Amino acid sequence: MTQTTGLRMRSWLFAPGDSEKKMGKAIASDADIALLDLEDSVVPDRKTEARAMVAAAINNAPDKTRVWVRVNPLSGGLTEADLDTVIAAGPGGVFLPKAEGGHDVETLDAMLTAREKTAGIAPGSTKVAALVTETAAAMFTTGTYDGAPRLVAMSWGAEDLSSELGAREQRGPDGEYSHVYEMARSLCLLGAVKAGVAPIETVQPEFRDLEALETRARRVRAQGFRGMLAIHPAQIAPINTAFTPSAEELAHARAVVQAFADNPDAGTVAMDGNMLDRPHLALAQRLLAEAGK
Ligand code: COA
Ligand code: MG
Repeated sequence: MTQTTGLRMRSWLFAPGDSEKKMGKAIASDADIALLDLEDSVVPDRKTEARAMVAAAINNAPDKTRVWVRVNPLSGGLTEADLDTVIAAGPGGVFLPKAEGGHDVETLDAMLTAREKTAGIAPGSTKVAALVTETAAAMFTTGTYDGAPRLVAMSWGAEDLSSELGAREQRGPDGEYSHVYEMARSLCLLGAVKAGVAPIETVQPEFRDLEALETRARRVRAQGFRGMLAIHPAQIAPINTAFTPSAEELAHARAVVQAFADNPDAGTVAMDGNMLDRPHLALAQRLLAEAGK
């Protein structure tokens, strides 16, 4: 079962690290995690300024465990300077873009440990999440995150991958992702489950279409995703709703557990005209455990 270490991870709201206003709003929002961005939403000339602004925003946050920082990728040579400024502020975690395998998380772990020690923060307390499908090479390493230190979640991205591929479009006329992006989504899901961390769906850039967002969030949750990235505050409520088990789901799970409890010698039982066997029981127990019921 996925270890969530008590941290809720349904909704992750990005805010540009050079916007004090948006960072403040993201931290004050109902997002489970506010993701202060130092990467794509900050131009190179503003990185230094943004690092200081991100550190200040973390220092002002009432609950730092839910304030995370997306640093620049290891390949770009900016990650260490990002960490030099932000780790001492004590963010809940670091989000690593363009990760190309579990060894990248090990590299980041060493960088974090050094800075935690300098800042007097318990080594290992800063968690990590990784974006694992943003390059062609990354797609081939999604199954290598088992045991990666500090890792609690994995997400995927279509924007950087399509840019590297030189692809003109990500989706077909029906709005569905084309095969390579569906594969990225599936590899993220499989890699995360294999590593025992939470799979997190990528962003929906069309932030005004909340109906499409909710449909998509529900669909990916049904596939096994545990949360979703967001770029606009309006996306948080639909995401939180979609990733919270409904009363109906909980009632069904309880009924499944009861059906097996009533038939302790049966490997399979019938319920409402359906056959239930052990995997159904395990799913029901997991849903109830995650909901704390
Ligand atoms: N976090 C916090 N607050 C946000 C926000 C975010 N991601 N996006 C918008 N807001 C705020 C705006 O500042 C605005 O506040 P106001 O009403 O006090 O003026 C309010 O929400 C409504 O914003 P709206 O006018 O609907 O959107 P916008 O045109 O200002 O911004 C984006 C649109 C896409 C530029 C903006 O949502 C954004 O910057 N998103 C995050 C981008 C990012 O970090 N990308 C990197 C990861 S892919
Ligand atoms: Mg990107």
